Amino acid sequence: MKIIKVKDYEELSARAAEIVAELVQRKEDACLGLATGGTPLGMYRKLIEKHRLGEISFKNVSTFNLDEYCELEKTHPQSYHHYMRTNFFNHVDIEMDKVHLPEGDTADHEAAAQRYNQLLKEARIDLQVLGIGSNGHIGFNEPGTPFSQETFVVRLAEKTRNDNKRFFNSLEEVPEHAITMGINNILQAEAILLLASGKSKAEAIHKLIKGGMTEEFPASALKNHKNVTVIIDEEAASLL
Ligand code: PGA
Repeated sequence: MKIIKVKDYEELSARAAEIVAELVQRKEDACLGLATGGTPLGMYRKLIEKHRLGEISFKNVSTFNLDEYCELEKTHPQSYHHYMRTNFFNHVDIEMDKVHLPEGDTADHEAAAQRYNQLLKEARIDLQVLGIGSNGHIGFNEPGTPFSQETFVVRLAEKTRNDNKRFFNSLEEVPEHAITMGINNILQAEAILLLASGKSKAEAIHKLIKGGMTEEFPASALKNHKNVTVIIDEEAASLL
């Protein structure tokens, strides 16, 4: 794993955006694996800036998001469909028919997970962007998920629902299930870029970098991958 230590969130966002931009400039039809949550917001802002400056175009880029909550309509302010539109897609020249997220708002979640898995099998993700949960989850692969797992319907860990309640009015409103790429899908990406910022991620980053491989800590599966870059700020690196 290549570890890039930066000062703060601003610098982390800039470095992450540079890595994505460099790929899109080199390969105009790049396939990006995208993440939601608080961490990549700065990266998306920087990519939008680069697009406005004419440095990058997403016209031929395709994307696959890691996950989506079950039961939220696509227009729900906390759905990842809505997040991606408002924080990124609406501000760049990406073509929406090249954009993919799991369909969490369909009646049959299992079937939706299978459909997404099939799409992933037919795709080749050049760069997968990841955050990391404070419990070590990647996507919504919670502790105990087999490394061989493919796209599935997950029951979210209470820790995750608690971490994410800051985006909702109350814990009760946080969905209990999501559809997520499995760890095995994530490991198929050509390259992986994991971002972690802030003290709340310091313990997880310590485990990722210093610990062994165990299914109890999903991000440790990345140790099996040949091209992983981790960008961490000083606070996330504070236990190293
Ligand atoms: P965060 O989430 O970026 O909102 O901290 C990361 C994650 O849960 O993967």
